[in-house]
Amino acid sequence: MTASTVARSREVWAAGDYQKVGVRLVLASEHLVADLGVRPGDRLLDVGGGTGNTALAAARRDADVVCSDLVPELLEYAVRRAEVEGLAIGTEVADAAELPFPDASFDVVVSTFGVVFAADPEQAARELLRVLRPGGRLGLTAWRPDAPGGRLLALVARHDPEHASGDPLRWGTQDGVDGLFGRGELRQVRHSERTVEFTAPSVAAQWQRYRDWFGPVHVAWQRLDEDGRAALEREFGDMWGSATRGGGPGIVVPNTYLQTTGVRAA
Ligand SMILES: C[S@@+](CC[C@H](N)C(=O)[O-])C[C@H]1O[C@@H](n2cnc3c(N)ncnc32)[C@H](O)[C@@H]1O
Repeated sequence: MTASTVARSREVWAAGDYQKVGVRLVLASEHLVADLGVRPGDRLLDVGGGTGNTALAAARRDADVVCSDLVPELLEYAVRRAEVEGLAIGTEVADAAELPFPDASFDVVVSTFGVVFAADPEQAARELLRVLRPGGRLGLTAWRPDAPGGRLLALVARHDPEHASGDPLRWGTQDGVDGLFGRGELRQVRHSERTVEFTAPSVAAQWQRYRDWFGPVHVAWQRLDEDGRAALEREFGDMWGSATRGGGPGIVVPNTYLQTTGVRAA
């Protein structure tokens, strides 16, 4: 990644208050570390770890955890969360495409909705495998392109292409992930579709949350003119409104993602 791409990504993810949106992903993190069979003493790296959802899930299983991310402020939040829970994690500011760790440093490498934003997906995929020891386990999650999470990323990229980073929808399809790890270095690959339900008191409340707290939407909204803002809000509202299930009150939106696990070839 060039210095300016890194700076733009940092600006996006430091904006707003990611924790207030990201906390709704805790279940995906818990499922991933359970499916990977994370054990006490496993050396585990979380890439694009943000405020620590998956790092904390692993720390709850007594793994020896390093949470890495582009944005130092998010990692500070992760450390505060760990302290409140009586857990310990290490942190490292790092670009997923240039991990500052020696080859084969970890037993487990994970990324929940994080590495998908690396500007160079192939390079990031190589880095994930490089720092994983042969026989070590890799675990990833990414929104399905047709799920609200994927559609939201596409919507924001359309309104603010300059700040869009990486190819997040590619990581949300089986073919996309197989293409990134298709050289035989990843074995026992398992893809599964999972769903987390996103709730909000109303579509309007959901919009406010994303506009104020979710970096990509927050930054796009700040840059748009009045017409652009109105269009973004309308399309956002249409999407969440049409995806809600059941009667009121509030909205309950099933959000489906692809979970991929595999083992680095020996
Ligand atoms: C949607 S959040 C996911 C955070 C966390 N993994 C979770 O499950 O809540 C995306 C994260 O990826 C990070 N990120 C974006 N581009 C990155 C890059 N090139 N290298 C490392 N982290 C990156 C952001 O700072 C942000 O914390």
